[in-house]
Amino acid sequence: MTEKFTTNDFGIPVGSDEHSLTVGPNGPILLQDHYLIEKLAHFNRERVPERVVHAKGGGAFGKFTVTNDVSKYTRAAVFQPGTETEVLTRFSTVAGEQGSPDTWRDPRGFAVKFYTTEGNLDIVGNNTPIFFIRDAIQFPDFIHSQKRMSDSGLRDHNMQWDFWTQVPASAHQVTYLMGDRGIPRSWREQNGYGSHTFQWVNAEGERYWVKYHFKSNQKDEFIEKYGHEGFSAEEADEMAGIDADFHRRDLFEAIKAGNFPSWRLMVQIMPYEDAKTYRFNPFDVTKIWPHEDYPLTEVGVMELNRNPEDFFSEIEQAAFAPSNLVPGTGLSPDKMLMGRIFAYADIHRYRIGANYAQLPVNRPKAAVKHSYSKDGSMSYENYPKDQPVYAPNSYGGPHADASRTTENNLLDVDGDVMRSAPTLREDDDDFSQAGALVREVMDDAARDRMVGNISGHLLNGVSEEILVRAFQYWKNVDADLGARVENVVRAAQKENAGTDGTINKPS
Ligand code: HEM
Repeated sequence: MTEKFTTNDFGIPVGSDEHSLTVGPNGPILLQDHYLIEKLAHFNRERVPERVVHAKGGGAFGKFTVTNDVSKYTRAAVFQPGTETEVLTRFSTVAGEQGSPDTWRDPRGFAVKFYTTEGNLDIVGNNTPIFFIRDAIQFPDFIHSQKRMSDSGLRDHNMQWDFWTQVPASAHQVTYLMGDRGIPRSWREQNGYGSHTFQWVNAEGERYWVKYHFKSNQKDEFIEKYGHEGFSAEEADEMAGIDADFHRRDLFEAIKAGNFPSWRLMVQIMPYEDAKTYRFNPFDVTKIWPHEDYPLTEVGVMELNRNPEDFFSEIEQAAFAPSNLVPGTGLSPDKMLMGRIFAYADIHRYRIGANYAQLPVNRPKAAVKHSYSKDGSMSYENYPKDQPVYAPNSYGGPHADASRTTENNLLDVDGDVMRSAPTLREDDDDFSQAGALVREVMDDAARDRMVGNISGHLLNGVSEEILVRAFQYWKNVDADLGARVENVVRAAQKENAGTDGTINKPS
């Protein structure tokens, strides 16, 4: 191997990795030691702001291979039979900061970037098929309630339950959160969901509504080994102390050992017209579509097989956005999704910089970019030499394809401008799907764990007024579950009589 000598960032050889330029061996440092200044100044700028949510995470590259013919539903090149596409997937917690433990109770982000021949498609989902709220205007308030108090800088269960119990739309997602999926044992174990309803469009222009499901091929193995999905609250608390990076390490080491995790991408497909008369609003992200009504159709398999070479440039600077929709895929009139269409590209320009789309991890890899964007901070791609800087032009610059006027945005809309909850349909209520999850999906042991999880959470600084609301909230989900939670909390309070009635437990 040829010997390598250190240079500065401009390739100029430097004389020492250890000693600054000084007057004599003990003397003061000189201002002309530009190498020392470069090192210290660059170090001071090593961090970009962390993501405002989903700050703690990890990810890997891999491939997505189509295994079924869904071409009658979508013309997207990435989903055509035989197609293989490079992907980047990032997993994360939501509320915790960069250094926070991987095993705090929280939904997990499950964001996939497909580098398709028609541009980048991002499915920016979670490990649960639903969400806490149904209008983007509530997102900052909801997240504030999950983050930290303004005076103490502490997380606070009282404000979490204050928010949830006043927003019944949260019941379904909080039920997931307090169950076994609230703390996955591994990112490899968990399923991923696009959560929202999206649109697919086929070659004839026919439209369908779809929901994406990534089914973990590792889940059964984990369940068999540990008896049930997820960590128990006690195991998770212990792991938070032993290894705050447990999930990040688990994924990295599995891939490094050649043990590549994979997920089957399935979709639920709803004929376009069904949405108009379906028994509940099919665009409400707090609801699932029952599989009896819309069964799963396999699309392909995602395998993660390559760790990042540089965590910062490939994972920290990765920018996912639900607005990255390729031809043959599109939006639905879900008010959360609409808000997200704005939010992600906006934060990327702030968090990473105006030219974040030029970074190797974010730019298209299998498609060619012909955009008129130019200049801005840290631009490093040369603007094409022969391309005019404006459109329309008479000099052969790219021009838009008129056949794509409504691509990704074709929605039937009608109505007056207003601020309103969506119109209620026959089965639009906030608690019945959450109750079905408790009664029909969970078994006795899972329900027992859930009672323990909820009461442990409530016994951590929640005021009497909000406790009473929380008992009612759970009784609305399931009368028996609510009564059990109330009994456990009241008994623990009695046992702790003389104290403030709370038991301090972190998760
Ligand atoms: C990350 C906003 C709802 C999944 C983020 C980020 C913002 C944001 C600002 C940080 C992005 C970054 O700095 O790179 C919002 C807003 C929402 C919303 C305004 C509601 C209106 C959701 C929902 C899901 C979700 C419903 C899942 C179904 C994610 C994921 C990430 C993320 C997975 C992390 C992406 C990554 O790994 O880089 N969100 N979010 N968000 N969000 Fe949302």
